[in-house]
Amino acid sequence: MEVVDVIIKAGMKNIVILISGGGSNMAAIVKVARREGWQEKWRARVAAVISNKASAGGLVFAREQGIATEVLDHKTFASREAFDEALSTAIDRFDEPGQPALVVLAGFMRILTPGFVSRYEGRLLNIHPSLLPAFPGLHTHQRALDAGCKVTGVTVHQVTADLDHGPILAQAVVPVLAADTAADLAARVLTQEHLIYPRAIADLLQK
Ligand code: GAR
Repeated sequence: MEVVDVIIKAGMKNIVILISGGGSNMAAIVKVARREGWQEKWRARVAAVISNKASAGGLVFAREQGIATEVLDHKTFASREAFDEALSTAIDRFDEPGQPALVVLAGFMRILTPGFVSRYEGRLLNIHPSLLPAFPGLHTHQRALDAGCKVTGVTVHQVTADLDHGPILAQAVVPVLAADTAADLAARVLTQEHLIYPRAIADLLQK
């Protein structure tokens, strides 16, 4: 590494995004960060994308963008704790002096251990496809339909030990239409996810 490179990157706020699948939220964050010049404005950049699945489609996009990627296959670890320990090691490589990395869960479909959550508390975000506290957990869109909801939506929140709870940073609401299937709702909600997740992160970076 050149000396000048070290000087430029010192104190950079690195964002590490964790995915398990398509990574469309991750891609939305990367695109907004570039378009809005987060690096120039706030010395913040998406530095790495980590997936627990080698097949995660989002890894292709991240590599094309020149972002560091890493796969940690949870099935190769003896315990949840061992996986989370390896995950921490991978994330902590992106800490900078005085600037611990921001950890962004974007469709990361693993339950994290309390030890992991407390280690990153305050700099660990999640997006969940419902209007929390309604419908934590899985199958949120079908559950919203089954409950007869007229609106549903998406929540960005700080992660705490309580699954799919934690302080709410942003929400967006979408209508539930009479003929909607769960797939229709998922698509409508996802469009909003791509808007509010980058905004919530930008808000945090400015604090
Ligand atoms: C998104 O809808 C996200 O809200 C959801 O997974 C999808 C990932 O899509 N997350 C959860 O359900 C977490 N409990 P993406 O990989 O295209 O961003």
